Amino acid sequence: MKEGPALRSFSEGGPHRLAVRTTAFQAVNRGSTPLEATLILMKLLAIETSCDETAFAVLEAKGGLKSPKLKVIQNLVASQIKIHRPFGGVVPNLAKREHIKNLPILFKKIGDVEDMDVIAVTVGPGLEPALWTGITFAKEIAKKYKKPLLGANHLEGHLYSFLLPSQKSKNPKRDRMFPAIGLVVSGGHTILLKMDSLTKWSKIGETRDDAVGEAYDKVARMLKLPYPGGPEVEKLAKSGNPDAINFPRPMIHHKNYDFSFSGIKTSVLYYLRDNPDCKPADVAASFQKAAVEVLVAKAMRAAREYSAKSVILAGGVAANKFLRKSLEKETSKTGIKLFVPDFDFNTDNAAMIGAAAYINVLKKKRYKLVARGNMNI
Ligand code: KG4
Ligand code: ZN
Repeated sequence: MKEGPALRSFSEGGPHRLAVRTTAFQAVNRGSTPLEATLILMKLLAIETSCDETAFAVLEAKGGLKSPKLKVIQNLVASQIKIHRPFGGVVPNLAKREHIKNLPILFKKIGDVEDMDVIAVTVGPGLEPALWTGITFAKEIAKKYKKPLLGANHLEGHLYSFLLPSQKSKNPKRDRMFPAIGLVVSGGHTILLKMDSLTKWSKIGETRDDAVGEAYDKVARMLKLPYPGGPEVEKLAKSGNPDAINFPRPMIHHKNYDFSFSGIKTSVLYYLRDNPDCKPADVAASFQKAAVEVLVAKAMRAAREYSAKSVILAGGVAANKFLRKSLEKETSKTGIKLFVPDFDFNTDNAAMIGAAAYINVLKKKRYKLVARGNMNI
């Protein structure tokens, strides 16, 4: 028998059915204010193919920008980790091939498509050949089922993933959470945002070279750990001494909010070259401490400077428990709320794409349905 994609999934509740349903999307399109539209339920089918996960999700969304309520009905992720592992990283053409193979397989597992109000798909940032597979597939099904199709920004998806229902991460109440500092940490990005609301923000800093997730992955490779390296470094670090090696904390004292992670990575490389008998767990733990210290120091300084009431952590690296705990410790000292995504929604998934699409419906923001590899936030 042919092996299907490695699938992570969960389903919640049965399909939602109403004989006649006006959706928030239709209401906004008809000219109702987004506020009026928020009283109405919207069902979204979301698709994500920006990197090495093919993902589908079905969400029910309700509520305005002040308190959006999202329910994840289905969350399917077909991971390509095994395919890319021998190459030590994502191979774009292999990713594209796997997405093309997995999209119809996952789509068959989706409930009644007729029941959806809109379809949403990631248009960037990411690997363009991979993004196009999702966009093309989404266009086909939107046409077939006569559904509106919305583009979504992958980074906004990460940022909004804390809005998704949380069982394992106990987030505080969302009232009076702004201004907030958003810290987006993934394989491709390390960004600090100053947020005045869910939809109004300015970027105050970002990495000048490697993203923090990329640094984790590269250090993992140096330590001969498999791809993706972030979780492997975290695991190994647990048995190491974080104070064994004093790796640099680049730009930690710079007045701006930019980051640089290539310096730590190079220090790790030289350290391993010069100390072949060192304990890999000590290297992992010391690297992790240096990287996390910079992230936390900058996020906390921004929180103080902008009198932030909360910090929102997002992106694949947000799965890192050492980072979560360090931020938890620092925010709790000053009474700042910390919002983190549930462990199901840190790394790439389509539920966050549905969340981003819903917020943009309320905001009346539309993205073009073309792949934009370098799209920013
Ligand atoms: O958000 P994401 O799934 O994809 C991008 O949009 O880039 O993030 C993937 C990144 C990878 O670099 C991966 O190594 C890192 O997140 N990552 C972690 C952990 N889990 C995933 N890094 C550190 N600790 C983790 N537990
Ligand atoms: Zn991502």
